[in-house]
Amino acid sequence: MLRNPHLSRRQSAAPAIGPEEDPSSAPQLGPGAELSIIVPTFNEHQNIVLLVERLRSCLGEAHWEVIFVDDNSPDGTADLVRELASMDARIRCIQRHDRRGLSSACVEGMLSSSAPYLAVIDADLQHDEQLLPVMLAELKRNAAEIIVGSRYAPGGDIGDWDAGRARMSRVAVRLSRVLVPADLTDPMSGFFMMHRSVFEKSVDRLSAIGFKLLADLFASSPEPLRFKELPYRFRNRHAGESKLDSVTAWDYAMLLLDKLIGHIVPVRFVAFSIVGAAGVAVHFAVLTPLIRLLGTRFVVAQAIATFCAMTFNFALNNVLTYRDARLRGWRWLRGWFLFVLACSVGGFMNVTVATFVYATYGTWVLGALAGIVIGAVWNYVVTKFFTWNRSHP
Ligand code: GDD
Ligand code: MN
Repeated sequence: MLRNPHLSRRQSAAPAIGPEEDPSSAPQLGPGAELSIIVPTFNEHQNIVLLVERLRSCLGEAHWEVIFVDDNSPDGTADLVRELASMDARIRCIQRHDRRGLSSACVEGMLSSSAPYLAVIDADLQHDEQLLPVMLAELKRNAAEIIVGSRYAPGGDIGDWDAGRARMSRVAVRLSRVLVPADLTDPMSGFFMMHRSVFEKSVDRLSAIGFKLLADLFASSPEPLRFKELPYRFRNRHAGESKLDSVTAWDYAMLLLDKLIGHIVPVRFVAFSIVGAAGVAVHFAVLTPLIRLLGTRFVVAQAIATFCAMTFNFALNNVLTYRDARLRGWRWLRGWFLFVLACSVGGFMNVTVATFVYATYGTWVLGALAGIVIGAVWNYVVTKFFTWNRSHP
């Protein structure tokens, strides 16, 4: 038994009130929430009130709470949630700064909850909230440890998606088979409810990259999850815009990669190296015309090309590798400066190590490779801390 709602205030672990206080004026303590509904939000101001109304009407007397995890939306979503929270203790707001990411937002919301049941639902009313009480009942009767709202189970529907998005979703589902069981029809679902233990046994292994927390949970669980799917029709977004874009596909690739090789090499380093390789192409695309067409001196052309490649690498890493910590405005400029500075030192180390290895072993390929590896690792580690301020994965 996690808690006893029938404990009186004096018997509970709550701080005792002073002897001069009138016990009858003490607030009545009720049981905590049994179900925490986590709602990740970014610019969902127009959907919040309606979602809360619908939760109230469909969950009735159940002991629930809703935790909005907002990434500092410019449209003031968090302010609105706090306003609603001041009138209803079941509503809570977590406002994150300088962070982005649907999955990581959900993880933080869950960590802030004490409820034995955890649900995730989008704010835009595309998921059918009527399923929430059914999911809760199914979990309570131990039909499964995780219940998934499915668009692909018999009776479910993807709604009014255009052919392109439907195709993308099907490809994503097929790719996910390396992570999730074959009979889970909608591993990309953003709508599910689970027993707290499901979250707790996987939390340390979660990648929490991008949008696909459910697939992440299945892949991170130490043993196969006992799941059940409930079909529903995916509705149209109520108001506002989808945050899904082409980079979501990149995030998904990074999630798959992290699950497959993350225990050997950090997936951010892989992303950083891919961007670095693209930077080499940019380098030559600048260098070649400078030398061939304009007859620029090699040292000058090489310096210009290096500078362009560094800027390109910084911009691309900012959008892809560090999407969750993306720098904007003057912080972009500051980040670019720190990146160029760090990579200049990295370049110096590259040449020094390469020269040393070449002098020692007499093989220039080995020297060049050693220089590249040392330079890349230096650039990665230093820019991770100083440019993007990440001290964790
Ligand atoms: N905190 C936070 N940070 N929330 C975010 C972020 C973010 O960076 N990006 C999106 N969200 C929130 C949105 O505000 C919304 O409440 C929810 O996450 C889903 O985002 P949408 O932009 O509406 O995504 P979608 O409709 O294209 O896709 C959703 O539904 C699919 C089907 O269930 C997602 O849940 C997908 O993961 C899912 O496959
Ligand atoms: Mn949506």
